Amino acid sequence: MSTSAGAGRTPLIAGNWKMHKTIAEAKGFIEALLPLVAATDRVDVGVCPPFPALKPTVDAARGSRVQVFAQNMHQEEHGAFTGEVSPPMLLELGVHGTIVGHSERRELFGETDRALAQKVPAALDAGLTPILCVGETEEERESGDTERKLRHQIQEDLARVPAERLGEVVIAYEPIWAIGTGLVATPEQAQEAIAFIRALVADRSREQAERTRVLYGGSVTAESCQELLALPDIDGALVGGASLDPESFATIVNATG
Ligand code: PGA
Repeated sequence: MSTSAGAGRTPLIAGNWKMHKTIAEAKGFIEALLPLVAATDRVDVGVCPPFPALKPTVDAARGSRVQVFAQNMHQEEHGAFTGEVSPPMLLELGVHGTIVGHSERRELFGETDRALAQKVPAALDAGLTPILCVGETEEERESGDTERKLRHQIQEDLARVPAERLGEVVIAYEPIWAIGTGLVATPEQAQEAIAFIRALVADRSREQAERTRVLYGGSVTAESCQELLALPDIDGALVGGASLDPESFATIVNATG
C-alpha cells in the first residue's frame, strides 16, 4: 500500500535513535538500510543518531536519499554552555536538521517552551530543519486538556518564527502516553490532534499551514504505520524503537512511499 501526504507535502519518516548506536553500529545500519529503501522516492527518509555518530552517519549516507538529523541543539552560536552543541556546529557536520523539544528532553532534562521559542528560529536561521515535538500526557488527555496543551506548546514554541517560514518547520505530534509504551494513538485521536495543530499554524498563516509537515510519533511499528499514514493530515512519522532495526524501519518507509 502506498500513502501520500495532503496538499503536495512530501511525507517524512524519521528514525529517532535516542541514546542507541555507536559509530560502528550507525554505519552498519546505513549500509543495511540503503538497498532496502532504494526503490522509494516519494518519501523523505531521516535518521537521528546521537551526537558522536552524526558525522559518520552523514558520511555513510552521502549521495543517498537519507537525511541526518540531530536530537537536540542549543539556541546560541557559542558560549559557556557546558555539554551543549550549537547550530553552526551541527551545520558543519552536514546534518539536515534537528529534533527539538522531544518529550524526553522536556521531562528528563528540563527543556522549556521558553528555550524552544529560541531554538526553532535559531535552527531555521542556521539553515537546519527543526522537527518540533509536542504532545500531551495521559493525565492531560484524560482531563480533556489535550487541546490546551497543544495550543500552548505550538503558540509559544513557534512564536518567534516569522509567519512566512512556518512551512519549513516539521512538527511531530507525540502523545507522551504513546511513546515507548506500545499504546498507539487511534487513527481518530491522531487525525484530530494533527488537524488541530495544523489549524493552529493556519491561525498565523493559512498558506504556510498547507506546507507544514505534521508527523505522528508514539509506538509506530511496521504493523501500526499503514492505518496512521493513510490519514489525510498525517505527513509521516517520528519512529523510536522500530527505527533501530533497518528492516522494520525500511518497512515503514516503504509503506509510506
Ligand atoms: P517510540 O518513540 O516509537 O519508541 O514510541 C517515539 C519517539 O519518542 O520519538
